[in-house]
Amino acid sequence: MKLTVVGGGSTYTPELIDGFARLSDTLPLEELVLVDPAADRLELVGGLARRIFARQGHTGRIVTTADLDAGVDGADAVLLQLRVGGQAARQQDETWPLECGCVGQETTGAGGLAKALRTVPVVLGIAERVRRANPRAWIIDFTNPVGIVTRALLQAGHRAIGLCNVAIGFQRKFAGLLGVAPAEVHLAHVGLNHLTWETGVRLGGPEGANVLPGLLAEHGDAIADDLRLPRPLLDRLGVVPSYYLRYYYAHDEVVRELRGKPSRAAEVAAMERELLRMYGDPALDEKPALLARRGGAYYSEAAVDLAAALLGGGGSPYQVVNAANRGTLPFLPDDAVIEVQAAVGPKGPAPLPVPEPDPLFAGLIANVTAYEDLALEAALRGGRDRVFRALLAHPLIGQYAYADTLTDQLIAHNREYLAWA
Ligand code: G6P
Ligand code: MN
Repeated sequence: MKLTVVGGGSTYTPELIDGFARLSDTLPLEELVLVDPAADRLELVGGLARRIFARQGHTGRIVTTADLDAGVDGADAVLLQLRVGGQAARQQDETWPLECGCVGQETTGAGGLAKALRTVPVVLGIAERVRRANPRAWIIDFTNPVGIVTRALLQAGHRAIGLCNVAIGFQRKFAGLLGVAPAEVHLAHVGLNHLTWETGVRLGGPEGANVLPGLLAEHGDAIADDLRLPRPLLDRLGVVPSYYLRYYYAHDEVVRELRGKPSRAAEVAAMERELLRMYGDPALDEKPALLARRGGAYYSEAAVDLAAALLGGGGSPYQVVNAANRGTLPFLPDDAVIEVQAAVGPKGPAPLPVPEPDPLFAGLIANVTAYEDLALEAALRGGRDRVFRALLAHPLIGQYAYADTLTDQLIAHNREYLAWA
């Protein structure tokens, strides 16, 4: 089996390698290719990757290259984990929306739109080259904003599936609280990428007993603390929202907080400098503890599971993925990309039926789906008016004066990435 990681020079990569090394029975890789244009980072990350494999006795070959076409040639699956513009562009996304009193975040709100506009054309270009090299290869997209990017890929006819670690994080967390193995925990997970709610926690299988009410009763305080939302709110919702919902349910509070501290991009950039220094140490042969302070916990396990299921080598039969709606949520268009539990196999994902969500959640899902549709239009076709329409449609923006100012800011800060601007 050959797997290629585009953006392989990312400081996140050792997390992925650690999973590939530990779970080689699930995903037996003969060749792992790390593709990245940044030669210096790739060398540091590639060196550590080889040492992690050696330590675990993994016999797979690790190849590093800047040549995308060579890297994807013959790959069975291609994992996309790139960041157009790096942390510097992310820093912008997290900063200028705050001037309007809007959340500054890399996937939510105006910053998320900026990221989509930079990223969609690049990812589509890469996907074309993957298809030319091997039309049967699966594209696993971890590149944000995952919902919009996956929709772009599916619309262009690619064999693509979107991946995020929010659900696996909840699965692991709930398993710990319940004292059961993670594989026992099946989430009733509904919504869009970074806009999801756990509406049930079932044990043993998707039809198992729902233990969410008891879990909330017993561990509600701990769960609320983790999400930084008030416990009574969880009780009133009766479900567990993802931490991205805090940008909606506590928007103004978050804005005040963000205005008073360094951006996450700045924090991550400092961590990355330290991580790269550590990766250069020839004695290091495991992922360093510092990596746990990044947001990607369990990303590697989710990626191994998904690649294994898609390539027919095992993996969990049910996984939370980003896939085409096709009637799963009847109030959304068929081609909208949703994040739900699906049966995953070599033919791809088949979303499991989802009970009709409460209007409290369905309303926001429908609204953000419309925003994502307009965001994709803007990313594919460009133009100031398309950017404005997407921002006006976003539930966290909505007012024309803000949408106008944010449009100007978005364009001013991203001109070098926007072919039409
Ligand atoms: C979580 C999200 C990812 C996001 C990451 C950011 O893992 O699911 O989509 O990229 O957090 O983590 P960072 O350490 O870069 O802030
Ligand atoms: Mn994510």
